[in-house]
Amino acid sequence: MQAEHHQYWVLSDDRAIQTRLSNIEFGVRIHDSFPVVLKTVTSTCIAEQEVKTLRQMAGKPHIVQLLDAFVHEKQHHVLVFPMLERIRLSSVDMKTAAKYMRQLVTALHGLHEAGIVHLDVTASNVMKDAKGDLVLIDLGLASLVHEVRADGRGTRGFLSPEIYYGRPDIDTRCDMYSAGIILGIMLESYLPVCSLACLGGALLTPADTDKTIHQLEMLLEMEKRCSALYQYSTLRIPPVVFDAASLLKSLLANEAGERPTAAEALEHPFLTATEADFAHTEHASYKKFRDVLIRRHRCS
Ligand SMILES: Nc1ncnc2c1ncn2[C@@H]1O[C@H](COP(=O)(O)OP(=O)(O)O)[C@@H](O)[C@H]1O
Ligand SMILES: [Mg+2]
Repeated sequence: MQAEHHQYWVLSDDRAIQTRLSNIEFGVRIHDSFPVVLKTVTSTCIAEQEVKTLRQMAGKPHIVQLLDAFVHEKQHHVLVFPMLERIRLSSVDMKTAAKYMRQLVTALHGLHEAGIVHLDVTASNVMKDAKGDLVLIDLGLASLVHEVRADGRGTRGFLSPEIYYGRPDIDTRCDMYSAGIILGIMLESYLPVCSLACLGGALLTPADTDKTIHQLEMLLEMEKRCSALYQYSTLRIPPVVFDAASLLKSLLANEAGERPTAAEALEHPFLTATEADFAHTEHASYKKFRDVLIRRHRCS
C-alpha cells in the first residue's frame, strides 16, 4: 500500500486504469477497510457535472453510488465509489441476461424520469456489485435531455444512429439503443444467425445494425411459421428466446421514435418473464436449439 489520499489508502497495484478522461485507482477506506475505487478526473467541468448528476441520482436503483468527492493536489477532482466487478456480457445465460437488462433499464428509467440522458451506456460502463446486481457507472457524459447535442462524444459501437450521424433532436431513447447493443452482446450465443458478434465493436455502423434487424425479423417470421408444426415435435425452442429477439429488434430501431422508452421496455415480455420461462435456456441445454436455428436459417 502506498500514497494516502485524504482518508483512503490507494493500493499501488497493476489494476489501475487510465482512460482518456480519468485515472482509476483501487483502494480501501481507512476507518473500516471498505474496498473503494478512486476516480481522478482531470477536467473540472466534467468532474463537476458528474458529481452533480450522481448526487441528484443518489439512492436510485442500479446507479453507482458516490461515496465521497474531493479536490486533490493540482486541482484534480477525485470521486470515490464502492468497488464493483466486471460483467462478462458474452458469457451470461439468458436468465441472467434478462435480469441485467431489467436492472439496466431500471437505472435508465431513473435517469430519464429526471430528464437526464446517460449518453455512454457501454459494456465497460455496466458492472456488478457483490450481490451480482448490475450497476450503471460513469455519468461523466450525462446531460439534461434538452441540452444534448450530437457532438461526437460517446463510445463507437454503442452510438445510436442519431448520434452517429449527428442528427438534431436527440432524446432519452439514444440510451435505449445502446442498451440494445448490450442486450445483443449477451444474446450472441442464443441467436447465432443475427450477426450479433459485431455489436459493440468500434467498426459497427448503423448499416450493420439494420442488417441485424432484418435478420431478427426473418427469425421471428420463421418462428411464427414453424409454430404450427410444434404439436408434432418435441424440440420446441423456448418462446422466451423470441421475446428476447423481439425486444432486441425494437431497441435497435433506426428511428428513436420506434424504440420503447425505459418504462415501456420494463413491461416487455422478456423483462417480465418468470423463472419457469427460462427452462432449457442454460448454455449446455440450449445447444440443440442453436443448431435448429442454424438449420432453419440455411433453409430460408
Ligand atoms: N466502482 C468501480 N469498481 C471497479 N472498477 C471500476 C469502478 N468504476 C470504474 N471502474 C473501472 O474503470 C473504468 C473507467 O471508469 P469510468 O467511470 O467509466 O471512467 P471514464 O469516464 O474514464 O470511462 C471502468 O470501465 C471500469 O473498468
Ligand atoms: Mg467509462
